[in-house]
Amino acid sequence: TFVVLENCIRCKFTDCVEVCPVDCFHEGPNFLVIDPDECIDCSLCEPECPAEAIVPEDEVPDGQEHMLELNAELSQQWPVITRRKDPLPDAEEWNGKPDKLKHLER
Ligand code: SF4
Ligand code: F3S
Repeated sequence: TFVVLENCIRCKFTDCVEVCPVDCFHEGPNFLVIDPDECIDCSLCEPECPAEAIVPEDEVPDGQEHMLELNAELSQQWPVITRRKDPLPDAEEWNGKPDKLKHLER
């Protein structure tokens, strides 16, 4: 499966959702996740993210292993998103900021 990493938080560019053939992105207030039970590993979403926040599960960086569980958990709670929308207002400013997990809204 592919995984959305912390750098999506407070950016939510949403370019990723348009290309997913199986609609496995789920949307929260300031973050998106991938449903690991639905993802077919097509890899189409990875290059679409301006924040480089999507990676295959075997390339999750050290220190972000918790994002695997978080994608699985939140994808069961949040609705599916299939259409691109405007990024969050300060997306460019937040892109690349460290330690964004504390800003996650559920
Ligand atoms: Fe969807 Fe493919 Fe990305 Fe998985 S890898 S989330 S199936 S676009
Ligand atoms: Fe997030 Fe990147 Fe998609 S910032 S919403 S994973 S395009």
